[in-house]
Amino acid sequence: MSDILERLRAETREAHERIERDLAWEARVATLGGYRALLARFRGFHVVIEPALAAVLADDAFFDPRRRLAHLDADLRVLGFGETAIRELPPAAITLPRDRAEAFGALYVLEGSTLGGQVIAKHIGRQLGLTAEGGCRYYAAHGRETGTMWKAFRLRLAEEARDGDPDAIVTFATRTFEAMRSWLCAAPVPLLDGGGEGPVAKVSQRG
Ligand code: HEM
Repeated sequence: MSDILERLRAETREAHERIERDLAWEARVATLGGYRALLARFRGFHVVIEPALAAVLADDAFFDPRRRLAHLDADLRVLGFGETAIRELPPAAITLPRDRAEAFGALYVLEGSTLGGQVIAKHIGRQLGLTAEGGCRYYAAHGRETGTMWKAFRLRLAEEARDGDPDAIVTFATRTFEAMRSWLCAAPVPLLDGGGEGPVAKVSQRG
């Protein structure tokens, strides 16, 4: 294992445990409404971080296959959201990566989440009867390519750390975990979580 991966694992272990605990994903994906609300939150995160990552990395061949905003939108459509409702979902207020080291720190968190995502996708399939093509594209993520994509990411990460600033990678990875946790686990708001007049609420009533 590369030094940087070992450091990232060790130094973000607690942050991973915190997000796993606070996300309470099994409870949230137990119902279609809860799952929809969770995807709506993930969208707020991806809609701001993906353009920032693309701009900093300036490497479409590497980054484009790792984008997942379109997957979130596809799932939200399957779950009853219209285009306007999707566009109106609130973006997350987070600190965005400003350079390559910060981008690789953030990408470690996003790409790493596709590993645990495989477990969650299977669970959602059993629980809600959704498939990668029908409502669970985001969690299915790289699917059968997960191992290959993670391996390729690790190689790039090791190169970046060797030529760049490993401390900044680790610092930004920790910050990204925390930003994600605060955004995904914040108190319910009507627009995102239903129970009010927002699109999630309207869709929940329909579904
Ligand atoms: C949004 C929340 C999450 C984020 C951002 C996240 C992030 C990560 C990261 C960065 C890694 C890579 C660790 C490494 O090898 O260096 C990872 C691995 C993993 N995560 Fe998560 N994770 C999240 C939620 C979860 C949840 C809820 C589960 C529980 C099912 C989970 C299960 C796993 C597993 C099993 C691995 C290891 C896979 C392997 O080594 O083959 N994660 N996650």
